[in-house]
Amino acid sequence: MLTGAGISAESGIPTFRAAQTGLYAQHSPQELASPEGFRKDPKLVWEWYAWRRSKVTAANPNRGHLALVAMEQRVPKFTLITQNVDGLHRRAGSLNVLELHGNIMNTKCSRENTPVTGWQDTGSIPPICPNCKAFLRPDVVWFGESLPADKLLAALDAASACNVFLSVGTSTLVEPAASLPFLALRHGAVVIEVNPEQTPLSKQAAIILSGEAGSILPQLVNAVWGCVI
Ligand code: OAD
Repeated sequence: MLTGAGISAESGIPTFRAAQTGLYAQHSPQELASPEGFRKDPKLVWEWYAWRRSKVTAANPNRGHLALVAMEQRVPKFTLITQNVDGLHRRAGSLNVLELHGNIMNTKCSRENTPVTGWQDTGSIPPICPNCKAFLRPDVVWFGESLPADKLLAALDAASACNVFLSVGTSTLVEPAASLPFLALRHGAVVIEVNPEQTPLSKQAAIILSGEAGSILPQLVNAVWGCVI
């Protein structure tokens, strides 16, 4: 199954594309989430991610995340592919999670591309790599960058092999994640979409559960397994 920003909306984390409240309301995705944007204005990008980190730290998993934990405990081969960098699936208790776009809590060196866990606060924004003095950056996938190959391959395998594919809270616009439900369709899976809005997947999904993940997913696990979230 695949999740996007919509599943965390009810935890108080704005989605990317909502007109008024979305994460790109004031700046374009390219300004805030691309190597070019970072080169142009590293302070703006670092501070935008610091603001998002504070939102994520203050947030808690919601009933939608918890329903997926219950589902994983009942489905023999369950893979949770997420585009979200907020880590809420793992905090909820999901185990087999593929974080395709990384995790906002992690930091790496913008030059060496290696994870960095500790650095001195010299007042520099962004902070400086303790090894090579280049700027540090969030360890997330930006526009124009490749996804981690091992995670993408595992996601493609899971989408090709599954019987049922759930697509929850994603606009199904950003590649390559957007192709996963269509890959599952081509391999004969029953594709179910959970979203209050239409997406490019809606016309092809076998079942559309139109509404918010935090109420639809608990109803789904209740209907199938009788468990109450
Ligand atoms: P979007 O912001 O593009 O889409 C969020 C989707 O969630 C929309 O289709 C909403 O209708 C839906 N939604 C909103 N509230 C919901 C709720 N309570 N329950 C269920 N669905 C709800 O977010 P993503 O599709 O995740 O990439 O965006 C994909 C990628 O684009 C992100 O991972 C990010 C972004 O640019 C990178 O940063 C690389």
